[in-house]
Amino acid sequence: MQQQVNILTDTLGRKHNYLRISLTEKCNLRCTYCMPSEGVQLSPRQHLMNADEIYNIAKVFVANGVDKIRLTGGEPLVRKDFSEILKRLSTLNTTLSITTNGILVDRFIDDFKTYGLNNINVSLDTLNEEKFNHITRRDQFTKAYNNIHLLIENGFKVKLNIVLIKGFNDNEITDFIKLTKDLLISIRFIEFMPFDGNNWNKSKLVTQHEILEQTTHYFGANQLIKLQNEQNFTSRDYKIIGYKGEFGIISSVSNPFCDGCNRIRLTANGKIKNCLFSNNETDILTALRNQESIENYIAKAIYKKLPVRGGMDSFESFNDPKKHSKNRSMITIGG
Ligand code: 5AD
Ligand code: SF4
Repeated sequence: MQQQVNILTDTLGRKHNYLRISLTEKCNLRCTYCMPSEGVQLSPRQHLMNADEIYNIAKVFVANGVDKIRLTGGEPLVRKDFSEILKRLSTLNTTLSITTNGILVDRFIDDFKTYGLNNINVSLDTLNEEKFNHITRRDQFTKAYNNIHLLIENGFKVKLNIVLIKGFNDNEITDFIKLTKDLLISIRFIEFMPFDGNNWNKSKLVTQHEILEQTTHYFGANQLIKLQNEQNFTSRDYKIIGYKGEFGIISSVSNPFCDGCNRIRLTANGKIKNCLFSNNETDILTALRNQESIENYIAKAIYKKLPVRGGMDSFESFNDPKKHSKNRSMITIGG
């Protein structure tokens, strides 16, 4: 293997300073696009990272250049020792963030404040309670909705994640954008992605083009401003003139953003996934437990990273289910 200058820099020069740690494979919702109806096979408890292991692995990443950590799941807040994990990670020098479904958020507001977790992404795919019950297979709409407001009132930086599915919620695009009139939030429309057992097919995609067409039609083309892309962006951002918040489009399928990818994922059972779409995983938890240096494993995982979407380098490659159906369900990756 060619010597890497920094273990987190890949062969294309992409620097991976953003670690996404999945804390659990469990969730208190059952979103249809995220997990199959029959559920997923959970890893045995002893195969999951404990709080110490999470901290020790994160520390190695931080020592090598990670400066941003996002906690994901499943639903990270269902983990019993969540506060303990957060407390320990807060001692590392990083920006902390979380992706949650919002259901348990009210119990953790104080912890978020105490440990400096300020960036909170909440999944909410519809503003309609019945549709929410359908897509999540649970009836917690009011809880999720109220908790989003609670976070905003408490000054957190809130982003709403909406997975768009043709015929299900594409008629709510402008309703979501209207929320940004008075609320300081960022709405992100995410293209539906294929994962094991989620009945993905191309015709369920709502493209960037369609979203912008609906938006300009409703608000007027001259009311829409394109914002500058952030560094290592996933979301292409816009704003309606005079509105407090903004909205963005994350089009991983039709218009990927792999060139600037700085993200590396650690699953709850201690495997590195170098790309959301890659089914090639590197086990670092076993290495850690065997008291081996995990840096070599991290280096290998980064070195193997492919340029675009784990090898699905064209839109056409999505026509071949063999290419994406072997990927884990999203519930065990963490978004
Ligand atoms: N396609 C796109 N996004 C997904 N998420 C889960 N499953 C999918 C999918 N199939 C996103 C949700 C949630 C995060 C955990 O992952 O938006 O915010
Ligand atoms: Fe749970 Fe999020 Fe998956 Fe929904 S998308 S089942 S809330 S992890």
